[in-house]
Amino acid sequence: MSTYQEFIQQNEDHDGIRCSWNLWPSSRLEATRLVVPVSCLYTPLKERPDLPPVQYEPVLCSRANCKAVLNPLCQVDFRAKIWACNFCFQRNSFPPSYAGISEVNQPAELMPQFSTIEYIVQRGPPTPLIFLYVVDTCLEEEDLQALKESLQMSLSLLPPNALVGLITFGRMIQIHELSCEGMAKSFVFRGTKELTPKQIQEMLGLMKPATSGQQGKPLAPHDAAASCRFLQPVQAVDMNLTDLLGELQRDPWPVPQGKRPLRSTGIALSIAIGLLEGTFPNTGARVMLFTGGPPTQGPGMVVGDELKTPIRSWHDIQKDNARHLKKATKYYEALANRAAVNGHSVDIYACALDQTGLLEMKCLSNLTGGHIVMGDSFNTSLFKQTFQRVFSKDYNGEFRMAFGGTLEVKTSRELKVSGAIGPCVSLNTKGPCVSDNEMGVGGTCQWKICSLTPATTLALYFEVVNQHNAPVPQGGRGAIQFVTQYQHSNTQRRIRVTTIARNWADAQSQIQHIESSFDQEASAVLMARLGVFKAESEEGPDVLRWLDRQLIRLFMFHLRRSPFLQVFNNSPDESSYYRHHFVRQDLTQSLIMIQPILYSYSFYGPPEPVLLDSSSILPDRILLMDTFFQLVIYHGEVRIKCLYYESGAPILTDDVSLQVFMDHLKKLAVSSSA
Ligand SMILES: *[C@@H]1O[C@H](CO)[C@@H](O)[C@H](O)[C@H]1NC(C)=O
Ligand SMILES: *[C@@H]1O[C@H](CO)[C@@H](O)[C@H](O)[C@H]1NC(C)=O
Ligand SMILES: *[C@@H]1O[C@H](CO)[C@@H](O)[C@H](O)[C@H]1NC(C)=O
Ligand SMILES: [Zn+2]
Repeated sequence: MSTYQEFIQQNEDHDGIRCSWNLWPSSRLEATRLVVPVSCLYTPLKERPDLPPVQYEPVLCSRANCKAVLNPLCQVDFRAKIWACNFCFQRNSFPPSYAGISEVNQPAELMPQFSTIEYIVQRGPPTPLIFLYVVDTCLEEEDLQALKESLQMSLSLLPPNALVGLITFGRMIQIHELSCEGMAKSFVFRGTKELTPKQIQEMLGLMKPATSGQQGKPLAPHDAAASCRFLQPVQAVDMNLTDLLGELQRDPWPVPQGKRPLRSTGIALSIAIGLLEGTFPNTGARVMLFTGGPPTQGPGMVVGDELKTPIRSWHDIQKDNARHLKKATKYYEALANRAAVNGHSVDIYACALDQTGLLEMKCLSNLTGGHIVMGDSFNTSLFKQTFQRVFSKDYNGEFRMAFGGTLEVKTSRELKVSGAIGPCVSLNTKGPCVSDNEMGVGGTCQWKICSLTPATTLALYFEVVNQHNAPVPQGGRGAIQFVTQYQHSNTQRRIRVTTIARNWADAQSQIQHIESSFDQEASAVLMARLGVFKAESEEGPDVLRWLDRQLIRLFMFHLRRSPFLQVFNNSPDESSYYRHHFVRQDLTQSLIMIQPILYSYSFYGPPEPVLLDSSSILPDRILLMDTFFQLVIYHGEVRIKCLYYESGAPILTDDVSLQVFMDHLKKLAVSSSA
């Protein structure tokens, strides 16, 4: 390995891992002196066309509180057919099926190139993927028309055996029975009355009929699913469903002057989640909510229907003047938890000019790993293309989506795991490798990730627990194992295992080595995630102060001013949206979000990256900025025919210019090291 740069790149390609440090300080005391903790970004389902899955069960360490998976770092005695666990040092015998192994006949999981390996395992009967569309009909005609077309298009992208369902809502909620023979029925619900899961199942016919003196009981999920006409295979109903979508009308209830339409989003979602709970618990499913405005009635309402009462702003929230905020958030959180428990994920596609209540509803997607897409209208290429990408396929022609994931982290003795930040919830699994010092979602070594894509990336933070006076033996290595169990989009159950190790180094004698192992890009993203996590849970000024303390040594100028931390100029919905995306993207995309890329185009040579600062604005340059969320093109004063749009106003919004800031930073850095 010639340089750290190559080492880092290889680890990312191979294992989907980027560590803040690639040599670890060998004592707790030294580790706490580093600004950036021992931490890593991990992309559990990173696409690996060169990684054929194996078709057997992983071999586990026999120690009950370890159960680490056999991996290339384990020492193996081929003659005695024994392997030593590299996490707890337990000596384990190989299972009988490994009787034939030898130095020259090794199973894949012992070969160094399989530090990441994927197992296909048998767990229960295969179940098809499920897509339940929940569609707001209080849209403008243009939006509804465009949305209908997108939904019809999506049917052609689903695998033929996928199950689909349709719920529409406005003032009332309709759940449509999909049948391939003759007239289809729909069931209508009022949007104002809260329903228990049991009531919903009763009304949808998912209960055993009551007999004399005996109350009805829920059908077993398998029977409920079989008798349920609301979820049907695409191949059986796509013609009829295409027609049904084509015939969808705007909500027929008149909307008086000065009023908002009555939108029963809360009940519509509770019916969707109740239906899946009763029929397909613990099975991958997507609820896809398409909405064009805030919920205005019933449980989960975010604003009343009087237009003269505006939807809550950050100002209202700070003044504790947002009437529905707490109640609505609590309502959606309860729904989100029910969906998460069953591995069902909820996407929100919210297209409207004003806010739609994402702030209150975001937990639905956050806790269940769903997507959030926010736009001005359904009739935009932004929505249409983004929606299409949800159904994109990988090199095998399989969906880039997986369900019902759990991630477990195991560490060698000198390390403990402090927490995770990303689209995950704690499974509250205690164990010897769980640290008491929480960072992010902590206090556990297992997290649930209801829905994943190949880009889904978690940040994991660790604590070095080795005491200063208990040196690690020379040449010792710290190890971490990530075990991700999930339902593949082709319905197989799979287990992906990644095992990594890094050398320990003594921070007093080897500080230069540790410094040269620093991954600045990964660290910037890892620290930014901590910042965003704090911004979600603490007061704004405290978070900025925390960040300022880190700034001296870490370059995070843009993050400080970014919409991830600053709520000024952004609605509560917008802040929720930006933060949601930030905590799940991979390293490259995250870096673009923290530090947008600015390219300068001139007549004199190829485009070049320039400082994101008003000093980069020159009369004969065209600037292109990629912020992940937007591409902005700025034309200099020497005008050329515009391809996109012109930004006329000068960009003079910096409170202090980046150049001045950097000069100060350099001076500071030099003076403090002198
Ligand atoms: C959607 O937008 C396009 C272009 O702006 C327009 O031509 C089209 O008529 C719109 N669709 C509907 C249904 O209004
Ligand atoms: C469903 O499709 C079949 C055949 O394509 C047709 O005969 C039937 O009338 C359709 N039902 C509805 C409700 O459109
Ligand atoms: C997601 O939910 C977790 C709680 O599980 C919370 O701590 C985190 O701040 C949320 N993140 C976002 C971006 O909403
Ligand atoms: Zn072990």
